[in-house]
Amino acid sequence: MGRKATAEAPSNLAFVKYWGKRDAGLRLPANNSISVNLSEAKTITSVEFDVGFDQDTLIVETSNIPPGPEFSRRVNQHLDRMRSLAGVDDRALVHTKNSFPAGVGIASSASGFAALTVAGCAALGLDLSVKELSELARLASGSACRSIPGGFSEWIAEDKDNRSYAIQLAPAAHWDIKIVTIVVSSQTKKVTSTEGHDLAQASPFFKTRLEGISKRLDSVRSAILDKDFQTFGRESEMEAISFHAIAMTSPIRLDKGWSSGAYYWLPESLELILAVQDWRRNGLEVYFTLDAGPTVHILCLKDDLNRLLSAVHEIEENRPGRNWEILVNAPVDGAHVINDIRI
Ligand code: DP6
Repeated sequence: MGRKATAEAPSNLAFVKYWGKRDAGLRLPANNSISVNLSEAKTITSVEFDVGFDQDTLIVETSNIPPGPEFSRRVNQHLDRMRSLAGVDDRALVHTKNSFPAGVGIASSASGFAALTVAGCAALGLDLSVKELSELARLASGSACRSIPGGFSEWIAEDKDNRSYAIQLAPAAHWDIKIVTIVVSSQTKKVTSTEGHDLAQASPFFKTRLEGISKRLDSVRSAILDKDFQTFGRESEMEAISFHAIAMTSPIRLDKGWSSGAYYWLPESLELILAVQDWRRNGLEVYFTLDAGPTVHILCLKDDLNRLLSAVHEIEENRPGRNWEILVNAPVDGAHVINDIRI
């Protein structure tokens, strides 16, 4: 009988983004970032180690793209990290399932690698602290370190001992904001986040972005702690644009040629961005943010949720053939062990 454990982990959405690394191999970020765990975007992963397995096997259930060889390589590498910590050599069977599409601007590597870390360590009997689990998850995918603590987190780029991990800023119950995530397309992005990080420094605006990041982190952190929605929303929206400005001005060489930058938005993303600005002018206090993909995340207070959803449905219904997937997220706890696969 092998040693098996199952874990559930949320994806997370950054209000101050991780974009650019000071060490790509160790996934050490250029700056701190701040995020919240998303209740409706999660991964459940079970990991079984058995002396009888002759190789690692990965089964991924997904609603859109099957993962490529690069994902399998990262999973294998992460299993090796855990095996080496536990001092074992057994191969593993990994079975994983996402509740949302991958590669569209909802961080699936965050929930995926956080769940793999927690399930793998539990299966191997490794008793790690939240900080150690977060550091370990970071090595597999940077944003995964923020899915380990519950609620609102800040990823510390580098502490006084040169360590890098996420800490909880506030638990999920601290602030009942809503994050309405609108998946406008399930087509996957052409430039992955990992590629985008490596290109970021080439943007002429990267240095300027970093110069202002401490101030932005202070504003977003205090706005969350003080539940100051206006400052929180404004800073998050400006930050999203700052991140996309870097992506759009970092030249890239794709397989099929050269491009002046990565445009993660689709026309429908821009339509929603403009709609958010209109709704705000008409008294609905909502703000947008986008990660590396066309999905638009709209932030609102709980009391404004129904008005926001009606407004979103109205623009969706005005265009026949549209079929957006809409997730109404709230802050949620971090990655944890569960009894078995139950998505
Ligand atoms: C735009 O964590 O996916 O979502 O460390 O290379 O796996 P790797 O990158 P990843 O980058 C996420 C970037 C982002 C912003 C964020 O989540 O902070």
